[in-house]
Amino acid sequence: MKYLLILIVLLGLLSCAENKQPSDSNNIKNEDIAKDSKYQAGRSLYITNCATCHNLRYELTGPALQNVEQRWKDKALLYAFIKNSQAVIAKDAYAKDLYNRYNKVEMTQFTWLKNEEIDQLLHYIAIASNKKD
Ligand code: HEC
Repeated sequence: MKYLLILIVLLGLLSCAENKQPSDSNNIKNEDIAKDSKYQAGRSLYITNCATCHNLRYELTGPALQNVEQRWKDKALLYAFIKNSQAVIAKDAYAKDLYNRYNKVEMTQFTWLKNEEIDQLLHYIAIASNKKD
């Protein structure tokens, strides 16, 4: 009986150890993310302001934001789009095409976002895009 109990405890410990796999193939570790204050700030901005219309991996009202920075050659234009998408749609062919593809749904304006906060958002998006949940 005593041995059975020991066996059960050991099996329990073993299954906990199995759950401690590295979080993904890119070696982005949850411990590192927990210490990354820029990531945490970006994540919280994202959840409050963006997640109603965007998911990283699939389309909602807006496009999936996974690796979005790679789709914008001009970083300044990307920042401008996040602040006021309509102003960029008026002058940029990529933005105009995107707007048409998404049924001319106007993204909320975020003119109040500071560049530093957009940095945080994009940092979160870039890391979370390549991290397994
Ligand atoms: C009301 C819904 C809505 C909200 C809220 C929203 N978006 Fe969007 N977003 C869209 C739509 C729709 C598009 C597609 C372009 C368009 O229709 O203007 C888009 C496009 C984008 C793009 C360009 C995507 C690409 O593939 O190039 C980025 C970047 C983006 N949004 C970032 C954000 C961020 C960051 C936030 C939060 C601060 C946010 N969005 C909040 C609806 C939204």
